Amino acid sequence: AQPLTITKMKKMKQDRNPITVLTAYDYPSSKLAEEAGIDVILVGDSLGNAVLGYDTTIPVTLDDMVYHTRSVRRGALNTFVVADMPFMTYRIGREATLRNAARLLQEGLANAVKMEGGEDIADEVQALVHAGVPVMGHLGLTPQSINQIGGYKIQGKLEQEAEQLLRDAKALEAAGAFAIVLELVTEPIAEAISKELSIPTIGIGAGRGCDGQVLVFHDILQYSSPYREKRFVKTYADIGTTIRSAIGAYVSDVKTGAFPEEKHTFQLEPGTVVLPHL
Ligand code: KIV
Ligand code: NA
Repeated sequence: AQPLTITKMKKMKQDRNPITVLTAYDYPSSKLAEEAGIDVILVGDSLGNAVLGYDTTIPVTLDDMVYHTRSVRRGALNTFVVADMPFMTYRIGREATLRNAARLLQEGLANAVKMEGGEDIADEVQALVHAGVPVMGHLGLTPQSINQIGGYKIQGKLEQEAEQLLRDAKALEAAGAFAIVLELVTEPIAEAISKELSIPTIGIGAGRGCDGQVLVFHDILQYSSPYREKRFVKTYADIGTTIRSAIGAYVSDVKTGAFPEEKHTFQLEPGTVVLPHL
């Protein structure tokens, strides 16, 4: 398949062809996602929670993102890859934002970056777009502001919240963003925003009215321990249980001598004499 472009994503919205997005953080996961036919891979800063063992995305660094984005690219040469701008690598002035985004494209080999925020980051979004960096917005629950928000709460329940969300979405579209993630937004508000915009919305916990969906790799596969159920996630496998029992079987095989077997070993050619002193 031809790699996706931001123009084709806009067309997909018009055609009501849902855009499928999954996160990935390394080579094997991105390779499997590409082989499975995903439209877009997001190297999310959920890296912090899913892979690095932090309880928020705040400790994730630009170096972390560059390293993981590069390995994702090596596994998915023909897929559109978006990389998250981590906490405080933007909102810190236009020049620093441009330089930091450049690293994700030049060193990480991403096609685009994603940033959390609306009207308040519109000028930085516009500067990036003018510099040739496609930007995906991210509104609703924005985990980089978790210390300010105070919890992983549903957004867009109150009328003034909903109105601000719409203003933010419009500001991102006007600034040149090519798509917007809506995270934990009530279904009616996410649907209304999607109808107001010409660029696609990608929902996570934002219901059926979005133009695409995104979920976290480790969530749909239950690849964590403990696995914590989330209402907005559908799980498609229980890899955590599979991995734990497989490792348990390996441990038990070595302890009992069931592994290795003869077929796992290397023997000498008949007649070969080595180590004669033994
Ligand atoms: O970091 C991430 O995985 C994200 C998605 C949940 C949208 O930002
Ligand atoms: Na993120």
